[in-house]
Amino acid sequence: MKSCLFINGEEKVPTNTYVVYNPHTGEVIGEVADSTEEEMRTAIEAASRAFYNMKTLPSWKRADILYKAASLLEQEKEEVASIITKEASKPISAARVEVERSIQTLQFSAEEAKRIGGEYIPLDAAKGGEGRDAYTIYEPLGVIGAITPFNFPLNLTVHKVGPAIAAGNTIVVKPAEQTPYSSLKLAEILTRAGLPKGAINVVPGDGPRLGKVFLEDERIKKISFTGSPSVGKLIKSQAGLKKVTLELGSNSALYIDESVKEQLSKIVPKAVIGAFSYNGQVCISTQRIYVHQRIAQEFIDLFVKETKNLSFGDPFDEKTVVTSLINKKSQKRIMEWIDEAVNRGAKVLTGGVEIGNGIAPTVLTNVPADCKVSCQEVFGPLVIIEEVENEKDALKKMNNSEFGLNAGVFTNRLNQAIEMAHGLEVGQVFINDVPTTRFDHMPYGGVKSSGYGYEGVKYAIREMMQMKMISLNYKI
Ligand code: SIN
Repeated sequence: MKSCLFINGEEKVPTNTYVVYNPHTGEVIGEVADSTEEEMRTAIEAASRAFYNMKTLPSWKRADILYKAASLLEQEKEEVASIITKEASKPISAARVEVERSIQTLQFSAEEAKRIGGEYIPLDAAKGGEGRDAYTIYEPLGVIGAITPFNFPLNLTVHKVGPAIAAGNTIVVKPAEQTPYSSLKLAEILTRAGLPKGAINVVPGDGPRLGKVFLEDERIKKISFTGSPSVGKLIKSQAGLKKVTLELGSNSALYIDESVKEQLSKIVPKAVIGAFSYNGQVCISTQRIYVHQRIAQEFIDLFVKETKNLSFGDPFDEKTVVTSLINKKSQKRIMEWIDEAVNRGAKVLTGGVEIGNGIAPTVLTNVPADCKVSCQEVFGPLVIIEEVENEKDALKKMNNSEFGLNAGVFTNRLNQAIEMAHGLEVGQVFINDVPTTRFDHMPYGGVKSSGYGYEGVKYAIREMMQMKMISLNYKI
């Protein structure tokens, strides 16, 4: 693939490059810019110059560009899915789903661009406020600095770019080092769709070095980051008065109540996919499952059997569910975490071994709660299953976490579902779905170490705009 740096509507020849490898085959995919700080500042300058143009573009035109981009992506979806599969080692069937979701995210952004309204404030509710009409409007912030992850290299970029454009902002994207090509393709598509020059810029390269430019440059008005909690916390502590949205990790939990015993054959396949789709490299991957003691053994037997049927192999093979991890470092870390758990008494029900550049889907039980595989985000094909006495016990264990993004509860008891939904310390609760559930227009944000602020198109747009109140005194 071509070497790229995308600034001001065109590809630039970069000063330095780095090689991008296919994580599954180890083959070279291509070289992209190992952008310098100066190149990042050039991109910010282009975005800053384009801002007036974007801000004054009527919302129907911003919506049109987003709709057009969605339809171009629709026409090129197979090519884009292959880019994702190559650079992220994402199974092709999952890569296609990601492209379909990205099309929808662009369409949602187009729809929301037309609905950015404010409210009427009755100022006469305060003594002395008589004779005034007031209302709020929302204005774009300016240049958004986006730092995107490798696991959904297209859709999680669209989740920042779509709302930024809908709001009338401009954006500079720093894609994950492993997966720059999806973002570069998105920029090219948006440009063909008619986005003004400089409104989107993609600057690949070293995260900490280029992220520092975002933090230091006054022209960046907001940083939107998806990635690890440690980097997220660092960004927040150094962002000063810039706005930030942080989508961080989790060790998502699921409770299976005894009341769903008769539906286990439907629930287990969902839970297995929740744990292992894209090798568990998903912020909301189902990592901890708590099962009512009366059905625990039956659930575990079905779960392990289903897990053993998962097909491991070439991500371009239609049947593949589990494949190579993003890199060797990740494989080594997860194996070390499994060893730690086993040395502390955990039992491996299946998996626990390396295959090629990946790890066989791993199911553990008897894991002490302070083992890394339980209390940290694994971001790999691993799930722990524990039996619990009842839903109160489950709730306590589910909340015993530094994280709080999504949680799931399978139950046929309405009161239990509601009580748990209220008691769970997370941003989103799914009753009768696994925590590995996301629809692109829903609010999506974490509590505790899982994040700060919201994504989900409508909510992301609000976070990328500034409210202004206008009061009209009609009795001078
Ligand atoms: C994530 O990993 O944060 C995103 C999950 C998704 O969009 O499905």
